[in-house]
Amino acid sequence: MSGYPGVLITAEGLDGSGKTTAFDNAFEYFSKKYPNMLVRFRDPGSIKNLEDICEEIREMLLYHRKENSNWTEFYLFVASRAQLVDKYLVPNLKEGKIVFLDRFYDSTIAFQGFGNGIPIDTILYDNGNVLQGTEPDLTLLYDLPVDIALKRMAEDKNKKLTDFDKGTKDFHQRVWEGYQYVADKYQDRVKIIDSTKPKKEVGDLTIKIIEEFLENYFKAH
Ligand code: TMP
Repeated sequence: MSGYPGVLITAEGLDGSGKTTAFDNAFEYFSKKYPNMLVRFRDPGSIKNLEDICEEIREMLLYHRKENSNWTEFYLFVASRAQLVDKYLVPNLKEGKIVFLDRFYDSTIAFQGFGNGIPIDTILYDNGNVLQGTEPDLTLLYDLPVDIALKRMAEDKNKKLTDFDKGTKDFHQRVWEGYQYVADKYQDRVKIIDSTKPKKEVGDLTIKIIEEFLENYFKAH
């Protein structure tokens, strides 16, 4: 729980898991249901096409990966997140907004921790220093086997592949294991969505889970 008046909902999963499409559709749906209450950000970054330091760091991370050592990469994610938290998440959560966030520090556990071997304790400690209490209230984890995720990415002609998307199958397999660890560690907030299901079902389930969560949340507050 974030401890702020607002609500923080995050989406996580392998590259190619269909997370962003389902999450964006849910954002449109709930923006109509709760006018002026929703805001959306992404991590790394802030808002697509916005010129700010978070988006500049995103560019360095996603398209210059070979130049970054594992530790540089890790701290760039933390740096981008420190700014995202301070400039966007905290002010909106203080105002009582429903914040949709595409990825957050669970990705660091999965990608930099399990994928690259940065110790999990270090990740939790350094990440904790920049969070300012912005713990997710609800996390949707879009789960599917690595083979299917890689196949979907290869077939998606519209997708501009990042350096992470081009990672080896072994790397993505370790990331998948990282997400199993996240699901187990944060059982209270993580809801797993089976992303092998058809798009429509994944989209409907996303809305259903968020709807139930928000209804309970508003009843309690
Ligand atoms: P996406 O915004 O299209 O999902 O791309 C972000 C990429 O960055 C994705 O491959 C996952 C990766 N990533 C990390 O490696 N660590 C992190 O902490 C975050 C937030 C993302």
